[in-house]
Amino acid sequence: MSEAEFQQSSPTAFDVPRHVAIIMDGNGRWAAARGLPRAEGHRRGVEALRRTIRAAGEMGIRIVTIFSFSAENWSRPASEVGELMGLLRRFVRNDLAELHKSNVRVRVIGERAGLEPDIGRLLVEAEELTKDNDGLILVVAFNYGARQEIVRAAQRVAQAVKQGELGLSDIDMDLLGRFLDAPDIPDPDLIIRTSGEQRLSNFLLWQAAYSELVFVPTYWPDFDRATLESAIREYQQRERRFGGLVAQTGS
Ligand code: FPP
Repeated sequence: MSEAEFQQSSPTAFDVPRHVAIIMDGNGRWAAARGLPRAEGHRRGVEALRRTIRAAGEMGIRIVTIFSFSAENWSRPASEVGELMGLLRRFVRNDLAELHKSNVRVRVIGERAGLEPDIGRLLVEAEELTKDNDGLILVVAFNYGARQEIVRAAQRVAQAVKQGELGLSDIDMDLLGRFLDAPDIPDPDLIIRTSGEQRLSNFLLWQAAYSELVFVPTYWPDFDRATLESAIREYQQRERRFGGLVAQTGS
């Protein structure tokens, strides 16, 4: 469906969320259901990611944040951690040029310390190459945990206080927010989690304060444009109910 068709297909489809964040869950279960190794589920997950970035850009979504490796994922078997690191390497090497050509700007959030040096360099390269692009912003949450991000922000604030650059009375929600990993990125309007699980799992806890949450049963490797559209319609219905309430009280 083209963007124009998508917009015509629903009276409120123009209200596409500006920022959609996605917990890409269910790769392992997708593979197990087919008798395939978990690694194959992750590989197919990268294909779903490509489809989703393309569809999101065509729909007019401005920012997509993806939970690609959580701070807690280190507890998985070393072979699976290695596979996920390999996927990131291949994703940057194979897809960065195409993303750049499509005017996508890549941003990365999460803890860089402790990553293998070549991974750190690839993340910097992706951000540097695409920094002047003004199309879709792809925020890659890598080695990311929300509580860890809030701790990092608190440490940065404490450092500024220690150096005399800030006083205690300067610390409020706005200020703390400005010390998070990507302070210029607006909070997600919509957070989608695939695979039927219904929790945030330490993803964007600060930024999710007012986000709409949509949980879809689809395993991530099967996620596609239709699933994204359906999640957006659910988001729009919630907005419409809110609009109805305002109209009723005003009449
Ligand atoms: C959750 O599925 C998914 C992950 C832990 C990794 C998500 C990563 C990708 C989709 C591809 C990687 C993309 C980049 C850019 C590195 P799961 O393994 O927890 O599935 P399960 O809950 O069914 O076991």
